[in-house]
Amino acid sequence: MIQAPKGTFDVLPEDAARRELLEGHAKKILGAAGYRRIETPTFEATELFARGVGEATDIVQKEMYTFDDGGGRSLTLRPEGTAPICRAYIEHGMHKLPQPVKLWYLGSYYRAEAPQKGRYRQFWQVGAEVVGSATPETDAELIVLLADLLEAAGVTRTRLRLSSLGTPETRAEYRSELVAYLRAHESLLSDEVASRIELNPLRAFDATDPGTRGVMHGAPKLLDRLAADDADHFAAVRALLDDAGVAYELDPTLVRGLDYYTRTVFEFSSDALGAQSGVGGGGRYDRLIEQLDGPPTPASGWAAGIERILLASAQPPPAAELVDLFVALAKPDGARAAFELSREARRAGLQAQQELGGRSLKGQLRHADRIGARYVAIVGDGVSGGDGLVSLKNMESGEQRETTAGEVIPTILRGRRL
Ligand code: HAM
Repeated sequence: MIQAPKGTFDVLPEDAARRELLEGHAKKILGAAGYRRIETPTFEATELFARGVGEATDIVQKEMYTFDDGGGRSLTLRPEGTAPICRAYIEHGMHKLPQPVKLWYLGSYYRAEAPQKGRYRQFWQVGAEVVGSATPETDAELIVLLADLLEAAGVTRTRLRLSSLGTPETRAEYRSELVAYLRAHESLLSDEVASRIELNPLRAFDATDPGTRGVMHGAPKLLDRLAADDADHFAAVRALLDDAGVAYELDPTLVRGLDYYTRTVFEFSSDALGAQSGVGGGGRYDRLIEQLDGPPTPASGWAAGIERILLASAQPPPAAELVDLFVALAKPDGARAAFELSREARRAGLQAQQELGGRSLKGQLRHADRIGARYVAIVGDGVSGGDGLVSLKNMESGEQRETTAGEVIPTILRGRRL
């Protein structure tokens, strides 16, 4: 039996309603702040991600679905949305528009990761990007909007971690300082940390063994090494969040899995989730557009995982849509009239369905009841005699009367207004 590929899932109709509702929240919250929707292709030139996300990242090293398009070009299913948006910004000359350009998106992304709860190989992200503004207000606005979205979606037990990465130059200097510090205290570190000092000195901050923790307590922090203008920028972002009443934890060890970040970085997680607790995150990427051969353009943004938002949300699915009318068939020769009546009803703005399952009349009435139909029109009923006559049943009151097909829609519309 053919099954969905490992790490993928079907969005069944009963799951779709909550996703639609979430999309509606995103549209409302981001739209109100002037963000406009953009969608880019699900695959791009591999080079975009290699250069944009970073050759050394796990994403580019191990997680990309890359294929040859048959014409010798290497394409990759998008693992993330920021590099494609920058590509589109450059390609469409959006730097000529009034700045900043504020965009949002919702679509599927692909990473060949080991699947587990909340981690899939095809997953959906909603994201927002502001291209063309360097202000701290931009970062704070983005964070506030994501907080609002998570709240509207009913995500519980959220935490926001915040940091600043400064510039790549500051980071390189800091890294050397940290490596030297770790070397000087090597005998106190766990074997694992000690063996990876050069490879990934920042990981030492995540270690749990007492020896390493003791050493890391006194380790230099990147936040203390920021250049003056980066430190000022970060202080301004924090002040805005304080004013907005958005709680956050400063986490100098916050590392994101993408290389393009500069200055502000942040991540929302939820304790309602298991190991994959990251609900959404992002930050500033002031050099990415230039790196992709565009004009120097500051930018900032975030993305959040749709599945993780839904997993962390206690909200029940929205109630099913009302069905105003179910058109039932007393005899097969009523089929054309039923087809016409249900179509007319929909054109009049009603939710109307016709019998398509070949059920007996009794079965049709049971079905109409099951789907919550307010009225059932029975057509082709011998009892009602002449052409155009139908029997209309109000399912709430149980009342049933003979009428003409032309009267069905006005009757329901009148009833609707009551
Ligand atoms: P990211 O942190 O890699 O950032 O992904 C954002 C969110 O996507 C995560 O917080 C998580 O909720 C969800 N996500 C990531 N991988 C998976 C997966 N395998 N299965 C399910 N959900 C997943 C970015 O992608 C950046 N482009 C965000 C950004 C926008 N930075 C600036 N602008």
